[in-house]
Amino acid sequence: MSDRPADPCTIVILGGAGDLAKRKLVPALYEVARGGLLSPSTAIVGLARSAGTDGSWRDAVRASVMEFAPAGTFDEAAWGAFAGRLFFHQGDFLSPETYAALQSRLWAIEAERGLPGNRLYYLAIPPSGIAGAVRNLGGGGLVRRGEERPWTRLVVEKPFGHDLASARALNDEIAGTFDERQVFRIDHYLGKETTQNILVFRLGNGLFEPLWNRRYVDHVQITVAESIGVEGRGRFFEEAGILRDIIQNHAMQLLCLVAMEPPVAFEPNAVRDEKVKVLRSIRPQTPEEILRDTVRGQYGPGALEGQPVAGYRQEPNVAADSGRETYAAWKLQVENWRWAGVPFYLRAGKRMPKRVTEIAIAFKTPPIAFFRRMGVTHQDQNVLILRIQPDEGIALRFGAKRPGAEMRIEPVKMDFHYSEFFGSKSADAYERLLVDAIHGDSTLFGRRDEVEAAWEQVTAILDTWGDVPPFDLPNYAAGTWGPEAAVALMARDARAWRRP
Ligand SMILES: NC(=O)c1ccc[n+]([C@@H]2O[C@H](COP(=O)([O-])OP(=O)(O)OC[C@H]3O[C@@H](n4cnc5c(N)ncnc54)[C@H](OP(=O)(O)O)[C@@H]3O)[C@@H](O)[C@H]2O)c1
Repeated sequence: MSDRPADPCTIVILGGAGDLAKRKLVPALYEVARGGLLSPSTAIVGLARSAGTDGSWRDAVRASVMEFAPAGTFDEAAWGAFAGRLFFHQGDFLSPETYAALQSRLWAIEAERGLPGNRLYYLAIPPSGIAGAVRNLGGGGLVRRGEERPWTRLVVEKPFGHDLASARALNDEIAGTFDERQVFRIDHYLGKETTQNILVFRLGNGLFEPLWNRRYVDHVQITVAESIGVEGRGRFFEEAGILRDIIQNHAMQLLCLVAMEPPVAFEPNAVRDEKVKVLRSIRPQTPEEILRDTVRGQYGPGALEGQPVAGYRQEPNVAADSGRETYAAWKLQVENWRWAGVPFYLRAGKRMPKRVTEIAIAFKTPPIAFFRRMGVTHQDQNVLILRIQPDEGIALRFGAKRPGAEMRIEPVKMDFHYSEFFGSKSADAYERLLVDAIHGDSTLFGRRDEVEAAWEQVTAILDTWGDVPPFDLPNYAAGTWGPEAAVALMARDARAWRRP
């Protein structure tokens, strides 16, 4: 996070009483305020539809901070200073009248606190409300388009659209009110230390980047596995599915960071230019290829940690005959000079045996089986594993001679754990991203063309899946690593998924 002093500003959270605000945003703001990363005059205004006062919102925020801020960080003095920044405004964000009242309220708060009028609007609201809220912000005169100072910025949450057409329409709507450089499309995966470390690992070390290409890499696996089910979000998940919820954003962002060329600078547009090139290099697939190279899964009843768990179709607000995927796997090719011929396998699933996000780079085996005359007929690939969560770190698996008279090669591991080495807990992704947005640094946020390029790929899959409904769901038991078809997808290429 930047050491520069943050501009004093007014942070307006539309949806300030919602789940995201409660669990993530206000605890993150408390932490950055406690760390001295907010200007002392910065104010935080929550807007919600339900009745409330500054006092009632402060009480609610206090409870959230106590529950969700990192253990041991709550202290009364820090809370007292933070609480004084908090204000609540009641209103329907779809109603233009709300914005006239909001503007007057913001002016009053800004005058009282000596704030210059910099505004950060954070849309922590249902996706269906985004276009209306943006239009109303513009129509109500709450946006200073393009101006350097005082600045206005917009943070938009995922999901950003539900296919290419809706993402484009949303981008057009936003572009009617904000310049692109004022827009911060959030994917909290990019705020994770370990995600940023992918580039540090690649570009800050002399050892691996020379190997980072088709000559040495056999294939790449990207896994985003969750052990939880839909956790009461059945209605949302029935609409979305895992391809939209995880692959389109988190998994494809990880793909970009692994596959991109070194940018000319660590600077917003330079980084995002390279990510867009990766997305545009993904080889388009025909419907037949999509059906061959993707797998849909849905969990049925099963067990996790010895406890029985219900199947997806038994979750609240899920259709008894739902065809929605809770698991997806996708084999794709990044067709450029660096990666031609190297398959990338992406998978994401709910109700997997454990929660883990990792990238595994499997290297080619040596050109000759040097020890074959000594009975070693098989050698495992060297694998580099970048663990994004929860046990952040990097591991390298290589072969070593097993002690003894016989020549036997066993896979062994060099393992780096963030928590062991650096000790202190790294900042939550939202802390980092909020500070970046206040600083106007959009390196870790999605640009319009990037989001649309990802949707273009995913929409092709959605269209094909829509034309060919699944016939075998549910096809994996909760608590297992996904359907047989995913195993077969790898086996066809004489490969196997890792068991993290
Ligand atoms: N929750 C998460 O962990 C999470 C993670 C990633 C992304 N997101 C995204 O973040 C956004 C918010 O999610 P959420 O889970 O926080 O939703 P939520 O719990 O339903 O909260 C929505 C908030 O919006 C307010 N709201 C809804 N309609 C309104 C209206 N017409 N006028 C004024 N306020 C209105 C609600 O106020 P009232 O309560 O007063 O009605 C509430 O404060 C969504 O786009 C979601 O996809 C959420």
